[in-house]
Amino acid sequence: MRDILDQLEDRRAQARLGGGTKRIEAQHAKGKLTARERIELLLDHGSFEEFDMFVQHRCVDFGMDKGEKIPGDGVVTGWGTVNGRKVFVFAKDFTVLGGSLSETHAQKVGKIQEMALRMRAPIIGLYDSGGARIQEGVASLAGYADIFKRNVTASGVIPQISVIMGPCAGGDVYSPAMTDFIFMVRDTSYMYVTGPDVVKTVTNEIVTHEELGGASIHTTKSSISDGAFDNDVEALLQIRRLIDFLPANNLDGVPEWPSEDDPLRRDASLDTLIPDNANQPYDMKELIGKIVDEGDFYELSAKHAGNIITGFGRIEGRTVGIVANQPMVLAGVLDSDASRKAARFVRYCDAFEIPIVTFVDVPGFLPGTAQEYGGLIKHGAKLLFAYSQATVPLVTCITRKAFGGAYDVMASKHIGGDVNYAWPTAQIAVMGAKGAVEIIFRGGTPEEIEQRTKEYEARFLSPFVAAERGYIDEVIMPHSTRARISRALAMLRTKKVEQPWRKHDNMPL
Ligand code: HXC
Repeated sequence: MRDILDQLEDRRAQARLGGGTKRIEAQHAKGKLTARERIELLLDHGSFEEFDMFVQHRCVDFGMDKGEKIPGDGVVTGWGTVNGRKVFVFAKDFTVLGGSLSETHAQKVGKIQEMALRMRAPIIGLYDSGGARIQEGVASLAGYADIFKRNVTASGVIPQISVIMGPCAGGDVYSPAMTDFIFMVRDTSYMYVTGPDVVKTVTNEIVTHEELGGASIHTTKSSISDGAFDNDVEALLQIRRLIDFLPANNLDGVPEWPSEDDPLRRDASLDTLIPDNANQPYDMKELIGKIVDEGDFYELSAKHAGNIITGFGRIEGRTVGIVANQPMVLAGVLDSDASRKAARFVRYCDAFEIPIVTFVDVPGFLPGTAQEYGGLIKHGAKLLFAYSQATVPLVTCITRKAFGGAYDVMASKHIGGDVNYAWPTAQIAVMGAKGAVEIIFRGGTPEEIEQRTKEYEARFLSPFVAAERGYIDEVIMPHSTRARISRALAMLRTKKVEQPWRKHDNMPL
């Protein structure tokens, strides 16, 4: 009996070594942790339960039947907890055939995906892989497709999170692309459909891994990644922080954590946040920091479309999604990128029953050929569609400008806002006073224009015309914003909205 137990220990120890000490050292030399070290950091200490540790590939081609068979086959899978809450995890093991995906490797990932969906718990994938196991050919492609299909089945049911911690190429990119969030590690991770060598052959373009698909590209230009971290440790700790904000699934509702922060806390500094000059910017993040519990805000896609801010905070210990125009970047204007970014976030919150708080200071949509040729109409419509369709509690607060179509789009009363507040500094109008007067009184003398501008400002550049019509529920003191939003959210907890039956909508993709 003792022998058998020892044998098990030996087999386990061998499996835990993955591709062996040499390859583990090489992994460390690149500044990367191994798959098991990553899981240890991600999950609560000692909570990891591993599955399929002894699975091996069955490939017999290209000498694979004669080579060393490494248990686990390039991916470590199982479940554990993050601050006591259940999550499922798979981590590609680069030390085993470059973490490449074989038929059996795919089956391991698929098993975990199915379990996560059955248990209605989040799934986290840690990527570090050379893509399809080249020796396995179509069996590998089939394995990928099985994973993609499960990603889609689970979409909107359980949170799916991807963390890119090394190479992620070919087949490996599309599964993360269908998950809710993608994060990367700076300098050690890259993501692309085809690598620099293929790019050179096909297009003659010479690019590095970083230029083609590093974190610097995917957090700014392509917006594929929702954020990047300096190293593996920081990335994994931040994923733990994110998990704390997310519901386990689309039915259980947001998690509730104890909070010391008084929901009715007033903040006098907000009364002077808005500058006297309407064209002067101020930092919307300062407002967000003062509204959410303990100033704890988890921003997403911070480096892309900075003119709109998206992320999670808590009020009364319960998660809220925050969407806010940022006057510090492009005056907070809505352009194609900002519209797409916010639309995707609103859809996420709605799918997972996370209430949305929207702060509005928007001078309109960005004019110009670049935007129109780039499909601004459709991209703007995405945000309009996402808000209009949302059935979660929607609380909106207009701090300053809410001009034109952008007023309608930013969770206005008309498209479903439940409680719409405005600060006394709000300006709700078709456009700014000067532009409006120059159209209505074209050809007027400078004196006339100046006089009419003042009249327009007095009449329209305030919250009261909208409030007179009930489009704004209440004009509130800036210092009481947190208290008003907390009370509104508490009232809205029982919100129920029925939608007409349909197979699915036809969102302007
Ligand atoms: C089998 C692979 C592999 C793969 C790497 N390895 N990629 N084995 N299939 N796809 C093995 C290597 O042979 C090596 O084995 C070990 O992993 C480490 O690889 P290195 O090349 O030494 O590492 P590094 O220099 O860091 O380069 C990493 C890399 C490179 C950039 C990822 O390995 C690479 O370019 N790999 C191939 C990438 C690729 O073309 N994949 C197929 C994509 S097509 P030893 O034994 O020496 O440790 C695809 C289509 C699917 O995915 C589409 C589905 C929709």
